[in-house]
Amino acid sequence: MPTISASGLAQLLGDWRDDGPALRALADRVRLLLLDGRVLSGSRLPAERELAAAVGVSRTTVAAAYARLRDSGHLRSVRGSGSVITLPTGSRSGSAEPLTAAGGLVNLTRAVLPAAPVLAGAARAAAEDLLAHLPGDGYELLGVPSLRAALAERYTARGLPTAPEEVLVTLGAQHAVGLLCRAFLAPGDRVLVESPGYPYAVDAARGVGGRPVAVPVTAGTGDTPGGWDEEALEDAFARTRPALAYLMPGFQNPTGAVMPPALRHRVVELARRYGTRLVVDETTNDLALDGPVPPPFPADAVHVGSAAKSLWGGLRIGWVRADAATVQHAAAHRTPWELGTPVLEQLVVARCLPQLDDVLVDRCGELRQRRDVLSAELAAALPEWDVPHVPGGLALWVRLPTATSSALALAAQRHGVLLTPGPRFGVDGAFERYLRLPFGADAGTLRTVVVPALARAWRDTGAVAPVSRRLEVIV
Ligand SMILES: Cc1ncc(COP(=O)(O)O)c(C=O)c1O
Repeated sequence: MPTISASGLAQLLGDWRDDGPALRALADRVRLLLLDGRVLSGSRLPAERELAAAVGVSRTTVAAAYARLRDSGHLRSVRGSGSVITLPTGSRSGSAEPLTAAGGLVNLTRAVLPAAPVLAGAARAAAEDLLAHLPGDGYELLGVPSLRAALAERYTARGLPTAPEEVLVTLGAQHAVGLLCRAFLAPGDRVLVESPGYPYAVDAARGVGGRPVAVPVTAGTGDTPGGWDEEALEDAFARTRPALAYLMPGFQNPTGAVMPPALRHRVVELARRYGTRLVVDETTNDLALDGPVPPPFPADAVHVGSAAKSLWGGLRIGWVRADAATVQHAAAHRTPWELGTPVLEQLVVARCLPQLDDVLVDRCGELRQRRDVLSAELAAALPEWDVPHVPGGLALWVRLPTATSSALALAAQRHGVLLTPGPRFGVDGAFERYLRLPFGADAGTLRTVVVPALARAWRDTGAVAPVSRRLEVIV
């Protein structure tokens, strides 16, 4: 059972106090850490006396906060193990929830879009294509040949010659990242990651015993382009000689930064020099809102891609593009956990790929409008927030004037908007001054629901009410 030390929890809690009673603020903040994934369900919390000392309140306050969490079903006492934080039974994963959920809740914990319209016809055609596969056994550990070939062809057309044997179809990009971590990391290995970055990639590396080494990435503001700190990158490579580096060079999640060509080549050089396996996650690369889609990263890297953003997350189709030996090695690490990717969904993606460029024109046009609406409405309603201009991707990485992202997320939920606070995107609890705001919801919802709710929540920050019982998936 994972255990959180009092000092570790105090660090995650950050500046948790608000204007209300301390017991309520403490309980709310612990619950938020559970719901956004910074504290794992099933973890043992520190003893009351230890936490009281670490956060500077009385033991009675901690006891009352724990009692409150117990009452709401988030904490249970396990004999011999103390207080264990847990998602209440009946807690919802929100899996079938649209972006605008019943009851007016808008889910901005996910940077997503609904399915591209092309999917309906592609699914019908794929059902026909499936007939040819039915005589086979259907276990596709590497991927169905037609999809591997179509993905290889797309990489080749975009300037990265690729053979079908160099493609491994996975259950989404997250699965691909997890598989690569299992295949190429040993406990104790250093893993270079971006900060802020995609939290589930860091979780995957940690899950196999990897030790994250964070390098900073910033969102552009005004005239200052955002991006990777080259010196910090070089220093991190030289100092830690990471076994693996995980980077998102095309519209990085959550900053939207794009890695310039010269830095891409420099990173390849560094990885070669220090014996680092370079993994580039290009899940959001196709969502170029102001210019052409960035070309694929140079060939030396292991590329991860996904149909989730350009077509639909519900397909659960992603892939790895690497040399054939790497593909085979990664595929060999599937079998203890699962036995391949469903055939029908692969056929749907194979049907969509020839039309993907047209799909992207529509999708990016829609996203561009939504980004512009959200940026303009935020500028008008919350001029004190620093809203970057992002050239692509699905989210704005907004800088707040105060370190109140978690309090704001709690307050926003009361006003019907679910948010992931900034610290979830940091490696060790930084970014309380930042908020990721996805712009996948339609323009009307952003204008009439999201921004007014954010403005109300911002005004309320410091006087927040208890949050309900939800588990959210961040994508
Ligand atoms: C950078 C990045 N990688 C991976 C994923 C997960 O992709 P998938 O749904 O294909 O598993 C996301 C989803 O937001 C993402 O932004």
